[in-house]
Amino acid sequence: MPSTTSPTALSSTESVALSGVAVVCVATLIRTFDGEGEPLVASLALSGLAFAASYAMIRWLGPTFLKAGLKGRDMSKVNNSHYIPECMGAICAVVYLLTIIIFIPFPFYKDIVVATSGGGNRDVVMNVEFVQQGRLLHKFPHSKLASFLSAIISLQSITLLGIGDDLFDIRWRHKFFIPAFASIPLLVIYFVDFGVTSIVLPTFLQPYIGRELLDLGILYYGYMAAFSIFSPNSINILAGINGIEVSQSIVIALLLVLNDALYLLTPYPHPATDSHLFSLYFLLPFLGVSFALLFHNWYPARVFVGDTYCYFAGMVFVVVSILGHFSKTLILLLVPQIFNFIYSLPQLSHVLPCPRHRLPHFSARSGLLEPSVTKWEKDKQPRPIIAQGLRLLAKFKLLRIKEDEEGRIEETSNFTILNLWLVWRGPMREDRLAVEITTMQILVGLFGLFVRHKLALLIFREDNLSIKSPV
Ligand code: UD1
Ligand code: MG
Repeated sequence: MPSTTSPTALSSTESVALSGVAVVCVATLIRTFDGEGEPLVASLALSGLAFAASYAMIRWLGPTFLKAGLKGRDMSKVNNSHYIPECMGAICAVVYLLTIIIFIPFPFYKDIVVATSGGGNRDVVMNVEFVQQGRLLHKFPHSKLASFLSAIISLQSITLLGIGDDLFDIRWRHKFFIPAFASIPLLVIYFVDFGVTSIVLPTFLQPYIGRELLDLGILYYGYMAAFSIFSPNSINILAGINGIEVSQSIVIALLLVLNDALYLLTPYPHPATDSHLFSLYFLLPFLGVSFALLFHNWYPARVFVGDTYCYFAGMVFVVVSILGHFSKTLILLLVPQIFNFIYSLPQLSHVLPCPRHRLPHFSARSGLLEPSVTKWEKDKQPRPIIAQGLRLLAKFKLLRIKEDEEGRIEETSNFTILNLWLVWRGPMREDRLAVEITTMQILVGLFGLFVRHKLALLIFREDNLSIKSPV
């Protein structure tokens, strides 16, 4: 019978390092009160605290999760008979949500002072009735606060779905639309605050359509809702080797941070500064909790992240890109996930059989990963047209296929980017595969940002990074 092992307590080096991080972050946080709240510094300090808290709690709560039955076996190890804690992303999600909630007063510090003490002058004392009549409260940016609250609602909903899925393995048809429902608060805020539903047409198309902008109207909201279904699920299906769920999410988050920084570093005040600051406030703590998880989930994994982390990470990207008004840029950063999804479609749509697990196959003999396969019985061959399609894919090296002497298909590699990578590159160690896929994600993402800000000028008149503030 498989045994269960519990992760040990923090080592003394870890305790000292985490305490050091915590002390520096608390001191930084306290210092921000001397100025005007300095939200970006506060966000960084809180992200450090979120890292330390997640790191320690993942370790401490491992045995509790095991006892509650949240556990899994690492299929790609020689000794895979023991269980390790599953669903550790739930700890990250909870720490993250609390961090964001604690952070809320910081970006509103100046506004709270203005709304409650007379035009930002803290020496002016106003009596309570005056404040409660709302004479100055109209100065408070309630809409900005609504953005924070809607983001929290959406992220809480998706976390609930993730935990439910880790507990009960919910069926696809029952969970499919839940992320779209979770995105409704974001769409409402987008509609009320921004409402832009038109896209800029490439210059070569403009003469034919006779306009520069194409208004997609309600379709644009449909697209954003669809994206909120796609993003969490796309992270969850690019999974199955130690560390890959977290490392791809960290790369996407870092690239989004880089994109935000481009807007903040412009020499003039940019109209999009506020929305990119908002994005940073949500991405920095996400990076904090994700790095803590990566420490435990990287090869050889001591914990699994669970569907909770995948859904939650995907939804963080949806939140920042919808409320930060750059949902199209996100597409460029999710190219490997989009490829993996499209490539997976024959199995996801059950045109071809889809086994419960499609993760690469671990060869105990070599200690390396190989593409996992779907076996075809002699008397249960794919229909001729599908067999032709499979052979065509194999010809273009997009699949590995094994046939017997009579040309019957014996096995085909499973349709995931991880298996395809192994088809191309040959068997390799699990951590090497994770490093290579993560490097590919970085390069594709950097190219995506380059396309967004530089190559786009070939087909659009201007990049909005070059739009100067009206002031
Ligand atoms: C998705 C994939 C599935 C893949 C699985 C791996 C689709 C449609 N589904 O399913 O093909 O096998 O993720 O996460 O593409 N595990 C490991 N090593 C790891 C990570 C996970 O062995 O590094 C195993 C563990 O037994 C773990 C289990 O996978 O308990 C988690 O699988 P789960 O997240 O429930 O699978 P799905 O998300 O349903
Ligand atoms: Mg999963």
